Amino acid sequence: MAQTPLSMEPTGWYQVAWSHEIAVGDVHRMTYFSRDMVAWRSASGKISVFDAYCEHLGAHLGYGGRVEGENLVCPFHGWQWNEQGRNVCIPYEKRPNRGRRIRSYPAVERNHAVWIWFDTASRPPYFEVPDVFTAFGDDASDADNYYAPIPGGTLFHERLELHPQYIMENGVDFAHFKFVHETPFMPEFTRHDFHGPVSYVDFTIAFEQGATLESASSGVYSVNAGLGCSVTKSWGMVENRTMPAVTPVDESTCDVRFTVWIGKKPGEEDATELTKYGKVMSDLVIDQFDRDVEIWSHQRYSDPPALSQREFKGFTALRNWAVQFYPEGDSTYGRDPTRPESGAIVPLHPSATAATA
Ligand code: FES
Ligand SMILES: [Fe+2]
Repeated sequence: MAQTPLSMEPTGWYQVAWSHEIAVGDVHRMTYFSRDMVAWRSASGKISVFDAYCEHLGAHLGYGGRVEGENLVCPFHGWQWNEQGRNVCIPYEKRPNRGRRIRSYPAVERNHAVWIWFDTASRPPYFEVPDVFTAFGDDASDADNYYAPIPGGTLFHERLELHPQYIMENGVDFAHFKFVHETPFMPEFTRHDFHGPVSYVDFTIAFEQGATLESASSGVYSVNAGLGCSVTKSWGMVENRTMPAVTPVDESTCDVRFTVWIGKKPGEEDATELTKYGKVMSDLVIDQFDRDVEIWSHQRYSDPPALSQREFKGFTALRNWAVQFYPEGDSTYGRDPTRPESGAIVPLHPSATAATA
């Protein structure tokens, strides 16, 4: 096993659960970023995520804590905490302790998932979790055109020894597709845009044997919001969207979640659940992702890596982009709109041009 030298506290959005795992009234225990946390859903349905320990005398709110209306009630002495983590009631005093607050994390629900914003400097979120249906600016973006991904279109691995950046590096690693995913040719990147904290990586890819780069008319678009969160959309092949998410648990491990939406086939437009066809297709997509996970979870981070000539530009751009998310990095790096686009790749063949137009 090879522990990563990279910080396990990069700034960004991280998936901590799927929404359906936390029902109204649930207080869900979890550990991320080496912190014990609770995620709880209020009576009105709002998700909040707190550090797990009560600010009064330190009871763990995930053991016996309960939701009352819009507040979380500690099991030890009944103090009540609102969605911002502020104390709003001490049952045996006239007034609450207004100054005291449990650390809460900005939380959003998007794409069937619960995300928290993590930042060691406690800055508010400065980018968003992309919506898997609207992030690509296409008209066909409608959840109804896809089978529901929960629960059959998901993959969950707990506490793997890897780092979120390893997954992002896939976005510049054209050579691995042939060897890990058995594609008939090495994909060609049609877009590398590492301007801001949200980056865009598009490539041409095909899986049928015999396909060539010149003949290929399929590919993938991906939007990467920080290091922990991405969404992808395929074109020219089985319609699918995916959402890989990697969340640090402690100094050496991460939880990996993957959600797959498969486009409904003709005749199944009314399906409310994953059909047999949908399940077969999503298993194929999940299998491809799992092949990467097998590599990532045993990989040692190579720095500096022994890059081939063709790999140099893309990996350098990706690693420079990643620096902005690390606590020791310059937080403004990569957010300067005047910075020249790094790793820019010009489309070389017509199908790629048409698809990105
Ligand atoms: S420890 Fe939570 S109310 Fe006392
Ligand atoms: Fe891959």
